This record gives sequence, C-alpha cells and structure tokens, in this order.
Amino acid sequence: MKHFLHIAGLNPFDLMPFLDHGLEFIKNDLQPLTQIPLKNRLIFHAFFENSTRTNVSFESAALRLGAQVIHFNVHTSSIHKGESDYDTFQTLLHMRPDAIVLRHPHAGAAHFMAQYASCPIINAGDGQHEHPTQALTDALCILDKKGSLAGLNIVICGDILHSRVAYSNIMLLTTLGACVKIVAPPPCIAPALENLDIEVFCQLSGEILETTDVLMLLRPQMERIHKYLPFPTKTIYHQLYGLNAQNISFLPANALILHPGPTSRDTEIDSWIMDNHPAVCIHHQVLCGIAARMSVLHVLFHS
Ligand code: NCD
Repeated sequence: MKHFLHIAGLNPFDLMPFLDHGLEFIKNDLQPLTQIPLKNRLIFHAFFENSTRTNVSFESAALRLGAQVIHFNVHTSSIHKGESDYDTFQTLLHMRPDAIVLRHPHAGAAHFMAQYASCPIINAGDGQHEHPTQALTDALCILDKKGSLAGLNIVICGDILHSRVAYSNIMLLTTLGACVKIVAPPPCIAPALENLDIEVFCQLSGEILETTDVLMLLRPQMERIHKYLPFPTKTIYHQLYGLNAQNISFLPANALILHPGPTSRDTEIDSWIMDNHPAVCIHHQVLCGIAARMSVLHVLFHS
C-alpha cells in the first residue's frame, strides 16, 4: 500500500498489519520496534483545518520513529495571498518530503492530491468523508481492552451525517466482524447508511444501552452545520443522545465508552461521567492514537 487514504474498500488482510503493529506499539509503551526505523525521513504536516490530537499524535509518532517533521501552517501561508490549495500542495511536493500527512476540509482532498504525489499521502481527515487513522485508533483501543472485535455490539451515537470518524469506524468495525448500530437525531442520519446493513435508532434508549459492549459518542460537528441546528437544544440533545445520569445505569459493567475528542461536556457526555466513570477510555484512545499513527508510518515505509 503506497498511501493511507481510506478504510472503505480495505479487507481484513489489508487492515491486519496496521492493527498488529499498533498493538505491539501499545504493548511496547510506544517504543519503536527496531532502532530508529524512520531515520533521515522528512515528513510534512499539511493541516488545512484545525487539529489538536491528530496533529500532535502524528508528530509524536514520527519523532518516536526517528523521522523529522515540518509543519505547514495554513494561517501564515501564501493561501492568504490567493494561492490555491492545489498550488500550495504542489509546492510542498516539490520540496521532496518522504511523506505528507494531510488534513483538509474538503471530502476527497487526500485522494485528489495523492494522484500527483510520488511520496506516501496519509489522510488525517478529509471533510466529512473519512478519518482512517482515527478508526484505527478506536479499533486498537477496543482490541487492547477486549481482545477481539468480532461479535461485539458497538453503538455509534451522535452526528453521523457530518462525522468522518463515524464513516471510517463503520467501515472498519463491520469489516472486522463487529455488529454496529447507529443512534442519531433524524437530520444527522447519513443517507449512505441505507446501503449498509446497519440498524439505525433515533434515541439512546436503555434498551439499546443494555446490550452495548462499546458506546462511541460523537459530538455535533457545529463547524459543518451551517443552517439549522439538527436538534432543538443542547439540553434536549443531552437527554436523547447523550450519556447522562439517567441512562448510564443501563450500560453493562464491562462496556467501554469511547469518544475521539474534542468533547462537548454535558452535551454528548455528562461531565461527571467523563471525569469519573471507569468505562471511559478517552485518555486511552489518545495513547492508542499515537500507536495507530506509528503503525501507519511503519507499515507505509516498510511495505
Ligand atoms: C475528530 C475529527 O477531527 O474529525 N477528532 C479527532 O480527530 N480527534 C472528531 C471531531 O472533531 O469531532
């Protein structure tokens, strides 16, 4: 595999090296598996959209593997002088990086740019399309805690329509044999779900929670909701789609609670639950995120 652009279309054999190496990196406390495997490699970070976790975890992953990283900062770039994203990208390509980690607000941007690139392109999120390394992160977190994905009941709850994390996770988790259910406010249900064999619900009820092994909460993607709020108020969202003091008791004791971050406290998750409940894996996901990105870099540079 030359680039890492999407989860859709990958089969378990494609995914296995990323998961196996990722789990090894977690077990190895994020230490490289061999001495400085990416020595003398130069990786560019081209983030055309904001990021905390993805950006820093890609950088930690690259540095831990011995590579060097250069950040292209869109806010101080010639894009503000009218240069197109395409020309900016071509400029970066001609500086001969060994890989480019690209985040862009437009769906398909990473695929488009990859056509022109002789070095690996890694999709760090393209609009509301895919976020493949986040799905890998979440799968590693579940595998690390549960040992397997096959047969698990995984509920993804929130703004599915605008979330690239939802789509990549649905693709990855179902490919590896998990049973995925979706809970979302009706305007946030993606039409593409109709073509997939997935149950969709309009409320995070006790009945759904009772049989849940993993609950993945996603925030309303306010930066992509330009016209009407797809739910009446944040308080009502919290009652119907959030994990709160009323519905948490239905969740089995051994269930996991995941959230890719950033969280909106007291909207998709009650603040007290987020800080205190033992099932919450949000901080473990951060660690798994570094392992996932180390794994992607490792596999791309060694295949
Ligand atoms: C996600 C993203 O950027 O799509 N966050 C992340 O990468 N950690 C999810 C989100 O922003 O809600």
